[in-house]
Amino acid sequence: MHELDNAVVMVCGGAGFIGSHFVRLLAEKYPRSKVVIFDALTYAGNLSTIQDLLSERVTFVQGKIQDPATVNGAIEANHVTHIVNFAAESHNDRSILDPGSFIHTDVFGVFVLCEATNKYKIAKYVQVSTDEVYGSIDQGRFNEDSPIMPNTPYSASKAGGDLQARAHHITFGTPVCVTRGGNNYGPYQYPEKLISFFAVRLLQGKKVPLYGDGTQVREWIHVADHCRGILTVLLSGVPGTVYNIGDENERQNKQIVRILLEETGQNDELVKRIEDPRKGAHDKRYSMTSDRTRALGWKPQEDFETQVRNTVKWYRDNEWWWQPIIALPVYQDFVKAFYGRYLGEDL
Ligand SMILES: NC(=O)c1ccc[n+]([C@@H]2O[C@H](COP(=O)([O-])OP(=O)(O)OC[C@H]3O[C@@H](n4cnc5c(N)ncnc54)[C@H](O)[C@@H]3O)[C@@H](O)[C@H]2O)c1
Repeated sequence: MHELDNAVVMVCGGAGFIGSHFVRLLAEKYPRSKVVIFDALTYAGNLSTIQDLLSERVTFVQGKIQDPATVNGAIEANHVTHIVNFAAESHNDRSILDPGSFIHTDVFGVFVLCEATNKYKIAKYVQVSTDEVYGSIDQGRFNEDSPIMPNTPYSASKAGGDLQARAHHITFGTPVCVTRGGNNYGPYQYPEKLISFFAVRLLQGKKVPLYGDGTQVREWIHVADHCRGILTVLLSGVPGTVYNIGDENERQNKQIVRILLEETGQNDELVKRIEDPRKGAHDKRYSMTSDRTRALGWKPQEDFETQVRNTVKWYRDNEWWWQPIIALPVYQDFVKAFYGRYLGEDL
């Protein structure tokens, strides 16, 4: 019998990109556990992403993590034993347009989940965070003890959540771990991040906006590797501890664009170099070590280039998923607000 066999895991943000992959992983590895997907269904959450997963064992509750009554109600009604929180406002560019909503979800929401963890004696709460809280590093790598120096409203709100988790552990003994993942890619990613946005546009033969000279460096991790890391921390992480989950796989944005152009059969003419809307807040390089998570027995397994190509193939084969999303005004308004003046008529 495994610890998670009789568990009831509440996966907050489980209708989003990474959360839905995590639910798939749990359902596959621990078919006797129960999962409650708790999600507000913001613009980034889609029932179409999880429709095939819902069953007697995998149920859905709509609610906001910053709303204690709904959170507590879902925990009580389902006898939740573990929490993994993916729910967040998670897009840097949107955080420049509307920073306030990020604080409600990413800071206050984590506080509510910490309080609920204490109240209902939840066995383990994993707060999913990001390497962006460390800020930018020119050389070397951050580790979990590096100072957090966030540069955007998004990364500052995530850092605020991390600090709530830390303070609750120290003050109340809350059994919470924080994971900090690198940039993710893979199927079901809302088409607003570099790989998903560009893939969807290039597949339609539309122009893509590349910030600055495209030399920004990001550490990329396939969503399946990230989810296996989060599961490892859920099972073996020491409460009160931060775990980095990265692939140590650094790429410049322009190198990724090259692979995307090749895989979609498009050429350079579709790449429109644009002035960087993040101004001083565009971090040049993210990089971190993940030795602490590796010491728990996790290691990344996916090959970057193969999986980027597989991701493009997935978008090519699954228009049923993204076409309805990009047809919505909430999506079109965002593309127009952010890239309209660069892309002209080609929105
Ligand atoms: N995408 C990445 O590259 C990356 C990297 C490292 C860490 N992360 C973190 O992983 C988590 C998931 O990221 P993602 O890319 O899957 O995001 P996403 O935007 O695809 O999904 C977020 C989900 O949370 C839900 N949500 C948003 N606000 C909510 C609220 N107030 N209450 C309940 N649900 C709410 C949305 O409806 C959506 O389903 C985030 O916390 C993010 O900070 C993401």
